[in-house]
Amino acid sequence: MPRRVLIAPSVLSADFGELARACRAVEGMGGDFVHLDVMDGQFVPNLTFGPKAVADLRGVTGLPFDVHLMIERPESWVDRFIDAGADWLTIHLEATVHAQRVLAEIRRRGGKPGISIVPATPAEALSEVLDDADLVLVMTVNPGFGGQQLIPRTLRKVEALARTRAARGLGFLIEVDGGINRDTARSAVDAGADVIVAGSALFEAEDPAREV
Ligand code: DX5
Ligand code: ZN
Repeated sequence: MPRRVLIAPSVLSADFGELARACRAVEGMGGDFVHLDVMDGQFVPNLTFGPKAVADLRGVTGLPFDVHLMIERPESWVDRFIDAGADWLTIHLEATVHAQRVLAEIRRRGGKPGISIVPATPAEALSEVLDDADLVLVMTVNPGFGGQQLIPRTLRKVEALARTRAARGLGFLIEVDGGINRDTARSAVDAGADVIVAGSALFEAEDPAREV
């Protein structure tokens, strides 16, 4: 039976003056999660929004919020993003020494913990925290901006993680983010991705529902 692949449209490529409309659009185009990219200008060279925007958007749609924290010291922000309504809350392994503790804290607060790695980080670096994560986000570009090209080599990590998951009997979802579009989605899914993030491919499409 074919696997059901989930789609998480990223509103990073939407008009930030109309974020509420963008969240509704995600529903309209058939997205499964709303992917919200939080950037701090430190971990990545760009700034987006914080917990207030997430809280203000929470009432706009019933879809789960998939919040991707591209911020240093995410431990200082878990409470606020959970309170704001994050369902899935993903931190970067590279952004904190204490990733295991942060993942456990997200779970304790009722969120679904996610852990992400940038292209330069090997999949093996995740080994000690895989039991603590409900989602592993493999960045297929260097995070910070939408509209970049997928780095093909990153998909080997998706394959490796799928193998590790099976070998260890774990159940985390594998998500890919960056440069996913109608040309690259197939290779990501073939590699083992369960959740596909797409920003520019959907928000710049003439017919986003068709693109989904
Ligand atoms: C990039 C963000 C992505 C971004 C993807 O740092 O994490 O979620 O929105 O954009 P596209 O799909 O245009 O590469
Ligand atoms: Zn993202």
